[in-house]
Amino acid sequence: KIIVLDFGGQYNQLIARRVRECSVYCEVHPYTISLEDIKAAKPKGIIFTGGPNSVYGDNSPQYSRELYDMGIPILGICYGAQLIAHQLGGRVETAPVSEYGRTELTIDEKGGLFRNVSDRTVCWMSHTDYISMPPEGFTVTAHTDVCPVAAMENRARKIYALQLHPEVMHTEEGSKMLSAFVKDVCGCSGDWEMGSFADDAIKAVRRKVGSGKVLCALSGGVDSSVAAVLLSKAVGKQLTCVFVDHGLLRKNEGDEVEAVFGPEGNYDLNFIRVNAQKRFYDRLSGISEPEEKRKIIGEEFIRVFEEQAKKIGAVDFLVQGTIYPDVIESGFGKSAVIKSHHNVGGLPDHVEFKEIIEPLRMLFKDEVRKTGLALGIPEYLVFRQPFPGPGLGVRIVGEVTEEKVKIVQDADAIYREEIAAAMEAGLIPKSGREGTLGQYFAALTNMRSVGVMGDFRTYDYAVALRAVFTSDFMTAEAAQLPWEVIGKVTTRIINEVKHVNRVLYDCTGKPPGTIEFE
Ligand code: XMP
Repeated sequence: KIIVLDFGGQYNQLIARRVRECSVYCEVHPYTISLEDIKAAKPKGIIFTGGPNSVYGDNSPQYSRELYDMGIPILGICYGAQLIAHQLGGRVETAPVSEYGRTELTIDEKGGLFRNVSDRTVCWMSHTDYISMPPEGFTVTAHTDVCPVAAMENRARKIYALQLHPEVMHTEEGSKMLSAFVKDVCGCSGDWEMGSFADDAIKAVRRKVGSGKVLCALSGGVDSSVAAVLLSKAVGKQLTCVFVDHGLLRKNEGDEVEAVFGPEGNYDLNFIRVNAQKRFYDRLSGISEPEEKRKIIGEEFIRVFEEQAKKIGAVDFLVQGTIYPDVIESGFGKSAVIKSHHNVGGLPDHVEFKEIIEPLRMLFKDEVRKTGLALGIPEYLVFRQPFPGPGLGVRIVGEVTEEKVKIVQDADAIYREEIAAAMEAGLIPKSGREGTLGQYFAALTNMRSVGVMGDFRTYDYAVALRAVFTSDFMTAEAAQLPWEVIGKVTTRIINEVKHVNRVLYDCTGKPPGTIEFE
């Protein structure tokens, strides 16, 4: 395995992810980990991350120099590169010109990390300090217009340094550099799979939990389902999953979740379903402002969950299906509030527990899916599209009523059924994978309009269909679905769903639209 020593950079988990993409196992540890622990872990290589400090500043994070003499290959990135230069006798100072963003990199020496990289390539830089003089025994292997030592190496000692960030997407050949380090330099074989992550995570959870009691809020979404199954495999009936049906789920979803996780289902755990539909409808009655609706649903969810937790009594651990993008979002969330997102399963204030367990905290969505498959979770659950915590509450524009919920559930079920059929028939690529539909659903507009059905005037609701391509859900493009699919869905919705006399297709991208309607 490879150990990433975290010096506080922003992209540290991304480094770990890129290493895992080379099918090499990787763990991130704080730079405060002891030398004994590193030795005990027997890593085949160590990567120093970037970080916000200056190596020559007071209290700058450093690691014991002994590490360089252990014969373990080391790669320093950004701050990590400067640290190597500083500790081994080179010179680091404030650069006359800082470099931020896309930068052209010129390779001076092809061997080492750049074996398969073009002579000139685009990389991502983000630094104000630079290495002005490499330590003795190091060769400069790449430079940019303003950075004389963009990369250096001491091949004999297997120590490598990159001022650039190979882990970010904008460094076009960054993966090749990392792969060269972990495979060619460290000699990792590259046969690790997500399944091994699952096995290790199960063992780690078992050690941590011991004979303790564990509580999990299960929404039926991918993240909480994978977290729950992992916990169930680790500690079985010590785990209790609470599933709150807030009445804003998709058609039959509550029963489907119960079928999988309930007593008749596949997993060894205690399952509690709370049918709180009426409570939510009552509280939402008369409310049409989107943020207020979101707040009510979020609060009521927590309240229901807390009541259940009280019945169960004190537990030792609370499981959260937090994944890495959630960690970044909450950590760097300085931007304007567009919507107050909430994950059903957000942190309750009044539940007694000692510690939180977040087994998926290191993983990106596609890695969570791979873990899910490795755990034997059915594909239809693993490749589910994302569903927002407030559920249909944000897909019904304006006031939510039980009747409107039923309309949007029925329309949405038809839409999903027809999309699935179209995917089966090869008219649309299957979803859940790269480059395919990211999300598609029916929403209920708050508009009613005049129509004619069977010679009678109607005055009924309009359903909007939405389908988007997106890779990160931050931006999205409206999908051009085949007209025959939209036509069939329209006919079926009008014929089969009462109180709908018009179907509209949402052609808006994000921005300016958001994916959900509220
Ligand atoms: P928007 O509507 O902001 O949605 O473009 C982006 C992605 O986030 C999902 N979404 C939510 N997920 N809690 C969640 O867990 C929420 O409150 C929430 N609101 C939106 C949305 O489905 C899309 O995938």
